[in-house]
Amino acid sequence: MENKWLSAAFKGEVPSGFQGKVGWQSPSNIALVKYWGKKGKQIPQNPSISFTLSECCSETFISFEKADRLDFRFFFEGKENPAFGAKIEKFLIDYQAFFPFINQLSLTIESRNTFPHSSGIASSASSMSAFVMGLIEIERSLSLSKGRPVNMDLKKASYFSRLASGSAARSVYPKMALWGATDCYKDSSDEYAVSLADDIHPVFKTYRDSILIVSGEQKSVSSRAGHALMEGNPYASARYAKANDNIKTLLAALKSGDLDTFINITESEALQLHALMMCSSPSYILMKPNTLSLINEIREFRQETKIPLCFTLDAGPNVHLLYPESEAEKVEYCIKNVLVKYCDQGRWIADHVGEGPKKLQ
Ligand code: PMV
Repeated sequence: MENKWLSAAFKGEVPSGFQGKVGWQSPSNIALVKYWGKKGKQIPQNPSISFTLSECCSETFISFEKADRLDFRFFFEGKENPAFGAKIEKFLIDYQAFFPFINQLSLTIESRNTFPHSSGIASSASSMSAFVMGLIEIERSLSLSKGRPVNMDLKKASYFSRLASGSAARSVYPKMALWGATDCYKDSSDEYAVSLADDIHPVFKTYRDSILIVSGEQKSVSSRAGHALMEGNPYASARYAKANDNIKTLLAALKSGDLDTFINITESEALQLHALMMCSSPSYILMKPNTLSLINEIREFRQETKIPLCFTLDAGPNVHLLYPESEAEKVEYCIKNVLVKYCDQGRWIADHVGEGPKKLQ
């Protein structure tokens, strides 16, 4: 475990009268090389790479006040939500050695998502990273109250976001992030993500992600259960080796702006993720018939027009359509005239590569 943050934790007495409110907005992210399978405390079996999104965010405010012990309430979109609150409380208790001051605070957490309910978009990456950034912000206010100003440390935010919810580690950086140790990237780590923003061709900084909502229903198998099923998956070691190869090839393509390689790796990774689900025991299928129709339409459209668009999938039926901004007009024409008929009630979300978390006033 990184003891750097343990030894630097604010361990003093919370001053009487200490109170306030902090807020952070943090985005969701979409993986290109997928994290699927973990060990120990949220350590990935292979490295992953993602685009940070812009429109699909969580906004979390934490009101805090000096108290005798940790006292805690969690509200989601205005309603008290004990199930999600329990997840956060467990995180706070498990990692209290890093945040000992929480045992002297009463916290009220209010969170909302900027994307619609039941859109099938996983919110744990955005919500957990927003919460962690708020927690670090409280620690910063405490340090400031003792006359010791400290900067927001993104590596630390990524480390604790990862402990709260794996893929959340990647949401704290602008543009693109890499999480997981690999020989082909300096400073990469299994414990936190690093920014790729300085190592990507400008075309990738303009990428759009149009999220085609095939179903907004909650998925039948959680990511947590999916990761666990990798343990008995007969293809697990071949998968981890392939993912490592794909990281290497994708990093080179991201640097040079090689869109053909980007497309090959991205689509192959999406299909591998779902193939792994189909090969686990018990097996399961999260794609729907319209997911396949969309994949076929997207590939046909690419062949006919030579526009470099491609798809990826998260652990669910929705299709993320990825393309450079310069092609937006033609691709949006295709969405509105062809693809939208496969979407649940014609719903899709126009997102794009974003700038990472923002402090809210
Ligand atoms: O962060 P988790 O435990 O919800 O797992 C995320 C897994 C995928 O979304 C399927 C892939 C990824 O790398 O984001």
